[in-house]
Order: sequence, then C-alpha cells, then structure tokens
Amino acid sequence: MPACGRSPAKPMNPEVRILDDGKELAREAADLFVWLGEQALREGRPFRVALSGGSTPRALHAALAGPPFAHRLDWSRLEFYFGDERCVPPDHPESNYGMANETLFRPLKIAEDQVSRMAGEASDHDQAARQYEEVVRARVCPTGSLWPEFDLVLLGLGEDAHTASLFPGTAALDESRRLVMANTAPQGIKNRITLTAPAINHARTVVFLVSGAGKAKAVESVLHDRSVDARRAPAKLIRPVAGRMIWFLDRAAASTLPVSQQDLTYDEE
Ligand code: 6PG
Repeated sequence: MPACGRSPAKPMNPEVRILDDGKELAREAADLFVWLGEQALREGRPFRVALSGGSTPRALHAALAGPPFAHRLDWSRLEFYFGDERCVPPDHPESNYGMANETLFRPLKIAEDQVSRMAGEASDHDQAARQYEEVVRARVCPTGSLWPEFDLVLLGLGEDAHTASLFPGTAALDESRRLVMANTAPQGIKNRITLTAPAINHARTVVFLVSGAGKAKAVESVLHDRSVDARRAPAKLIRPVAGRMIWFLDRAAASTLPVSQQDLTYDEE
C-alpha cells in the first residue's frame, strides 16, 4: 500500500550527526524541530509531531521552551502525539505525557486540545491502543490513506536497542497493519502502548536522539552491526518508507561507531 498517496521510494539512507554533548545535541535537534515546524506552517498545515518518552527528550523540551526556539513558532498550530506511553496515570512520575506536560506543554502554554495522549491509565491496554489508533487515523492519516503522515516522529533508543515501546522479542515487532499496539517491557513499567514500526515509518521525518556511553553498544548494533537482526535490535525496524531519518548522537553514544560512518547506508534487503 503506497504510503499516504506518495509512491514508495527506496528508503533514504539515515543521516548521522555527532554532537559534542547532550546540550549541543538538544540544541541541534531543537533547531531541526523548529525548522520542520516553520516548513509545515508555511505550507498552511498543522505541524504534527509524535513525542518520545524517557529522559533524553527533557533537554530538547527545555531548549524548545526557551529562547530562541520558543519565539520561532506559532505553537498554537502544533498537534502533539506520543510514540509510546507507560500504562500509568498521566500524573505518575513515569508517565511520558506527564514528563512532556511538565517540560513542554505547560512552559509553552500548549492548549489541552492540541495534545492527543495515550490513555495509560486504562485497565484494558488493548482497548486503549485501539482507541488511540482511531484518534491517529482520524487526525494524522491523509484522506484515503491507511498510514499516518506525522511531520516528525521523535524517538529514543534503549540500551537493548528498543525504541518507542518496541522491545526485543515482543509481539508488536511483527505488526504490519495496526498503527498502535499494547506491548510489554522487560523492565520498569511492564505494560505499554506503542506506535508500531509501520506507523512510524510513514512519517515525513524520523529523528533519533541518543545520548550517553551506555547507549554506544545499542547504537553500534543498530547502525553498524549487520549480524544483529531487528528482533534483537528493534530500532532496526525504523526505516522511513519515503521520509528522512536523522540520528543525533553525542560523542559518547557514537563512541564505538567507525568515525568515517557519518553517512550510513543500509543494505538493500
Ligand atoms: C520510553 C521511551 C523509550 C525511550 C528509551 C530511551 O517510554 O521509555 O519511549 O523508547 O526513548 O528507553 O530512554 P532514555 O531517554 O530515558 O534513555
């Protein structure tokens, strides 16, 4: 099924940008975020972004909520979604919505109706996933298309090379039709709701933000080690069908990559 009416193109090669540290990484990512937002608004459409969870995005959110980035966008025209959520209430310390609300939505005075959050508090996780899928279909899929066209999907990377809540060896990795699934995590909050890989892969731009030496092995397994398959390194499932993919790494996270690998290519499968 062609993605959102655009003809399926050869997946573009990921771009890898290596920054000195987490602060520079956040600043560079904020600059790209705002640049993409300006483009969307200039084209007269809302800027639809799926936020990542975890702790890495905190620095990006802080950069966006302060000068110069806070003043470069009409934030009232953005729509916020989530790549995944832990199955906890929105005010729980582990809630991805809660972190975004504290670090981004409140500082930028984002209105509640601009934010579509996953119902982490629901007791029926599959039902909550299906409900969120309906929201994404209604608000992010172009008319007649099966796939959402997020302007930007922000992702992190776990030390086990998971991304969103697509964890090694879990059921959601094999999903090729649904947009949102309930899934489980091997540690931390067990029950999750996550966008599926195909839902992410139809985005216009996918950005990974990865910081810290603890992620170096996972980065290498995803971007360099072809002997590791996607079931063991789920971030390998993320290959935009026609969009752009950029990895922002700090030096510590990139420390085991061959320095020459600024532009990485994937084998044609
Ligand atoms: C989550 C995230 C997850 C995260 C990675 C990295 O809900 O935890 O979506 O995929 O991005 O686990 O997390 P850190 O940024 O905290 O290292």
